[in-house]
Amino acid sequence: MSEKDFYVEVMDYLPAIESNESMKEKFANTFYEFLQLQHLYDSAIETVRTYLNILDGEFNVKFQRNPIHNIESRLKSPQSIIGKLQKKGLPLTPESARKNLLDMAGIRVTCYYISDIYAIVEMLGRRDDLTIIKQKDYIASPKPSGYRSYHLIVNVPVYLSTTKQTAPVEIQIRTIAMDFWASLEHQLKYKPSAAITPEISQELRECAERIAETDMQMQRIFMEINDIE
Ligand code: GTP
Ligand code: MG
Repeated sequence: MSEKDFYVEVMDYLPAIESNESMKEKFANTFYEFLQLQHLYDSAIETVRTYLNILDGEFNVKFQRNPIHNIESRLKSPQSIIGKLQKKGLPLTPESARKNLLDMAGIRVTCYYISDIYAIVEMLGRRDDLTIIKQKDYIASPKPSGYRSYHLIVNVPVYLSTTKQTAPVEIQIRTIAMDFWASLEHQLKYKPSAAITPEISQELRECAERIAETDMQMQRIFMEINDIE
């Protein structure tokens, strides 16, 4: 559902809500719960960003270089949360979103070398305040599309004024080269008018493979220059 359609639909409900006290109350409560949920997930993103910055800084002190090139993050918008719940036939409530959608908070980390990805995964895994709830290595086993990346879903503690809560955050970790391919492929594929034939899919997969070879070659050069076995 587009953002515009979403608000058109909300507007349709408004007269019914305005004339009904109990619905008005329910609507206000749900809205407030969504705000709380957004704040919780936003805070979880900030927490993971801080963890990653600490690791990046320590690496710099120890090895005089940064493993992380860039960190991007996003919170799923209300309309895409509702769209995904609708698609899965799940209740459209904040509890349902919380229980069923593990990718409402997302962080994408781009690294310089493949070895940096595994170093970050290992360092995050050592934190005893993070629980890894899902882990997929699409570098060792690329997706049929050619997509490569390391995916983690971690449960992150968030300390609020009176309670400690946790929220899942999806972390995608990949090299700059993998990110280059994923960004272009995503743009090409998700254009509404895109006609992706099997031949084009094959070409995209070949591009991903050539990029992966370059990534490995850069890794070897890096290791040779730095005398790493
Ligand atoms: P969803 O329910 O769609 O989120 O899939 P999933 O929960 O099985 O997760 P998966 O690990 O398969 O993919 C999650 C995310 O990885 C997607 O939302 C994309 O950001 C990214 N991704 C996965 N496959 C591809 C791909 O073939 N191309 C690109 N560009 N991105 C991909
Ligand atoms: Mg997803």
